[in-house]
Amino acid sequence: TIAQKKQELLKINIEAARFFYEQLNEKRNSAPREYLSQRKVSGSIARKFGLGYSPEEWNALYNHLKKKGYGEDILLDSGLVLKGKNGGCYDRFRGRIIFPIFDLRGNVIGFGGRVLDKSTPKYMNSPETLVYNKRKNLYALNFAKNSGEKRIVVVEGYMDVISLFQFGIINTVASLGTALTESQGRLLKKYAEEIIISYDADTAGKAATMRGLDLLNDIGCNVKVLLIPKGKDPDEFVKKNGAQAFNKLIENALSLVEYKIKALKSTIDTNTTDGKINFLNKTADLLSKIDNNMEREMYIKKISKEYDISQESIYAEVLRRIKPRK
Ligand code: CTP
Ligand code: MN
Ligand code: MN
Ligand code: MN
Ligand code: MN
Repeated sequence: TIAQKKQELLKINIEAARFFYEQLNEKRNSAPREYLSQRKVSGSIARKFGLGYSPEEWNALYNHLKKKGYGEDILLDSGLVLKGKNGGCYDRFRGRIIFPIFDLRGNVIGFGGRVLDKSTPKYMNSPETLVYNKRKNLYALNFAKNSGEKRIVVVEGYMDVISLFQFGIINTVASLGTALTESQGRLLKKYAEEIIISYDADTAGKAATMRGLDLLNDIGCNVKVLLIPKGKDPDEFVKKNGAQAFNKLIENALSLVEYKIKALKSTIDTNTTDGKINFLNKTADLLSKIDNNMEREMYIKKISKEYDISQESIYAEVLRRIKPRK
């Protein structure tokens, strides 16, 4: 049955995770250990996240699991093994640092693997299987849900979660590079009162931030955006500047309206009159969607100051949109 097959796949995943973990600790595999230590991943955090290493061989895991009695078909279904053109099986993950992906109960449902150098693809991940649906899972939510914090920080990658965790910021999950889905949004809503999006400060990260912001807002989450200074991701930032600096970024996270207005400003040249009017109009569009008078007023004051537009001008435009002239 399907249920039995799922159990079997979870067993295979545990066996595989154990195998990768042991490989990382084999004396001969010093390169991946050196890699992790260069990236400042401590031994205890590597243990906590169950990090491992897939040897630079075609059949290391396949042979190991065959010996444990698993058949070719179920191994192919696990996504850990692929079938070659000649009909032989080979390991999906080779020569990579392995990140097991856990579900909420701590089952290993899939894996990510990173190369040790600049080669591509940088990451490989398990495909969708009977036990792994990447759209319905968030990396490290099994840890973050027990952090005792009302907020959850959403980052892009494995290394962001792990570094932040090592610096004591344990209420962090990763959407693993994919755009946030509605199922993931609902999970976040269930476990957090406030969600802070903290994606990479690059073009892809910015686009994903905007989409995630709208998605979470639409399902009724209280969501904010944390801005990492230029070109960095949370992993690089926290290693360079420390936990206190990252916590400060959390405290300064922007609300949806603030972030959207900031994004607007970056696309409009407000040095021209046309630009100023355009910016004012679009800002007023955003502000008019706020129901709460006090909240709206607070933003008007803030924006007036920050963008050097009189409160009266903003207020007039917003009012026009709330009470259309008869
Ligand atoms: N990702 C992926 N496949 C890729 C690149 C990225 O699956 N080829 C996913 C991974 O989950 C990765 C996340 O997207 O963690 C974010 O990607 P990126 O910012 O490029 O990588 P980092 O997490 O910053 O990885 P590192 O710091 O190790 O370079
Ligand atoms: Mn990315
Ligand atoms: Mn990136
Ligand atoms: Mn990174
Ligand atoms: Mn990154």
